[in-house]
Amino acid sequence: MPAKISLLKTRLEAFDRLDLLGSTTPLEKLHRLSEYTGRDIYIKRDDITPLAMGGNKLRKLEYLAAAALAEGADMLVTAGAIQSNHVRQTAAVAAKLGLKCVALLENPIGTTEANYLSNGNRLLLDLFNVEVVMCDALHDPMAQLAEQAERLEAQGFRPYVVPVGGSNALGALGYVQCALEIAEQSSAGFVDFSAVVVASGSAGTHAGLAVALQHLMPDTQLIGVTVSRSADAQRPKVEAIARDVTTQLQLGEKTPSIILWDDYFAPRYGEPNEAGTAAVKLLAEQEAMLLDPVYTGKAMAGLLDGIERGLFPEEGPILFIHTGGAPALFAYHPQV
Ligand SMILES: Cc1ncc(COP(=O)(O)O)c(C=O)c1O
Repeated sequence: MPAKISLLKTRLEAFDRLDLLGSTTPLEKLHRLSEYTGRDIYIKRDDITPLAMGGNKLRKLEYLAAAALAEGADMLVTAGAIQSNHVRQTAAVAAKLGLKCVALLENPIGTTEANYLSNGNRLLLDLFNVEVVMCDALHDPMAQLAEQAERLEAQGFRPYVVPVGGSNALGALGYVQCALEIAEQSSAGFVDFSAVVVASGSAGTHAGLAVALQHLMPDTQLIGVTVSRSADAQRPKVEAIARDVTTQLQLGEKTPSIILWDDYFAPRYGEPNEAGTAAVKLLAEQEAMLLDPVYTGKAMAGLLDGIERGLFPEEGPILFIHTGGAPALFAYHPQV
């Protein structure tokens, strides 16, 4: 494995990266949850990346913001739901780098709940001084973002468009980096993971992990729990980014096969469900670990159900990637 690790590190070094994380995130055993489920469960703490309440997007933004600065941009423009963690972290990075930030937002669940509209992640956007533009729906986000960029250029700005979720091949490199950390931490701790579980949304996190874990830990199965759409609709998104990442890193390996579980996102993206909410409560009670109702609660519901129903093909420890999202807990009160 050390040779594979150093090859991947060398390939990654070819890309500009701003060091926003500072250090690796912890990988810990969840002792009480392991006892409760009868299975060893570990957690990768990307919920505590250092900027503005943490989350997975900071890893992607290390690459995307570096590209923005290299292009001489003075503004980051992105899009997402009103309670998007991605938009909040992009806005935080913009503030940190002294860039302006414009966010195109939708209300994907059509709610009028005051907390959803103004608390949680949305509250933080105001603190970061984001210009918020509301739209009816993000039906074609790249085109809608290009329109915003044109408007802002006409005003004299130099915007850099960060795709929804930071999910393109460049952003996904952040999760190649995360997989390198996991490979090193698991071999240092002598833990041989049989499976890794992650929420699969805009797909960059899943795709980056899929490419790098296939290279570094080929016997470990990566399972993406969908949070937005059916497996049939999600698969091409993950595969497209994974293909681009493989090419970008010149790995010369076949694109990894993508495993998706899609029984846990209903009724739709952004709307909590019973199993997800129960998982949020269980992790809080058992481990004082804060999940969220939109992403990690649903992904953890998949992991727990997978143990209960014997869906994991192998015995052995399972690693859950905690991608963050806890600020949304305040936005979904009193629903969750
Ligand atoms: C907390 C959280 N977890 C998981 C994800 C999914 O990551 P990705 O969009 O890369 O699939 C997101 C995306 O916004 C998120 O905010």
